Amino acid sequence: MRTFATEKSATNGTPTERHEPRSGGTDGALDSPALDQPTSAPRHQFGVIVEIGGRRMPFMRWSFIRLLLSMRRLMRVWQVGDGREERLADYVLQNARQGDLDDVIRVVDEYCYQRSFMINVGDEKGAILDEAVRRARPSQLLELGTYCGYSALRMCRAMPDRAQLVSIEFNPANAVIARRIWEHAGISDRVALLVGTLGDGSRTIVTLEAEHGFAAGSLDFVFIDHDKNVYVSDLELILGRGWLHPGSVVVADNVKFPGAPEYRAYLEKRQGRSWRTVEHDAHLEYQSLLKDLVLESEYLGGPA
Ligand SMILES: C[S@@+](CC[C@H](N)C(=O)[O-])C[C@H]1O[C@@H](n2cnc3c(N)ncnc32)[C@H](O)[C@@H]1O
Repeated sequence: MRTFATEKSATNGTPTERHEPRSGGTDGALDSPALDQPTSAPRHQFGVIVEIGGRRMPFMRWSFIRLLLSMRRLMRVWQVGDGREERLADYVLQNARQGDLDDVIRVVDEYCYQRSFMINVGDEKGAILDEAVRRARPSQLLELGTYCGYSALRMCRAMPDRAQLVSIEFNPANAVIARRIWEHAGISDRVALLVGTLGDGSRTIVTLEAEHGFAAGSLDFVFIDHDKNVYVSDLELILGRGWLHPGSVVVADNVKFPGAPEYRAYLEKRQGRSWRTVEHDAHLEYQSLLKDLVLESEYLGGPA
């Protein structure tokens, strides 16, 4: 059950809608549904405690600690450094039914809960993304930050049959992994991956316009989930090309953790003028201790 409330914008007093997290929230991701049930007894997975008192405890998982220790490398090359991203693709190909998109999503979540913590949007925030895509009924979608292709799997499942998604990924090794998983899920004809960045001196922008039909007012939906420092500048690049139209929707992950405060302030300042934003309270992926925020913003048109 979702509840709705409004909060005052810190900058201009305009209400910004706020959605509370759904209860439960594993989206059927686990083999063991018992992991969704609050319990006071520690619950073990592969020899480590992952849940106490109904809260999933990432800090007690070695794969989460290993990720924290690799944070500087992760922010530079966007892989943890222990091969977990490649192993995810192997795991999916071995364990998920070929051509079954639901099963591939389930198996990725299973790997992230039971084997290695990963920086996918995850099942709880993924459900928010799903709903935003369904509401928008987009024809053309853009994702910034593919990683191993998990959020793109979810968007393909939620978007209309004839819609096309283009996902942009900075690290070519991640692109190889995502493409393997998408091929296995049977969605390769619905999603294209460009290795690059929107800010790479127009190479990627030119490709989007010349080869993927990006044009004035053509872009219906954007998912921003890459380098938190360029959320605003990349949104401004998109606006500058005129790709959005009134009614286009932009969803952004990790606005609270690791945090994109400039992006949040940017949208708060424009609330009710060029943007209308709803804030969804949620948790950081694959645990229920650290909070996160997903922003869903409708472009209203007009000046930036
Ligand atoms: C948090 S992960 C994305 C997770 C993915 N959206 C999912 O939910 O499955 C961030 C990804 O953005 C990529 N990235 C970082 N900076 C980027 C940029 N400027 N443009 C495109 N991708 C970028 C990283 O290589 C990394 O794979």
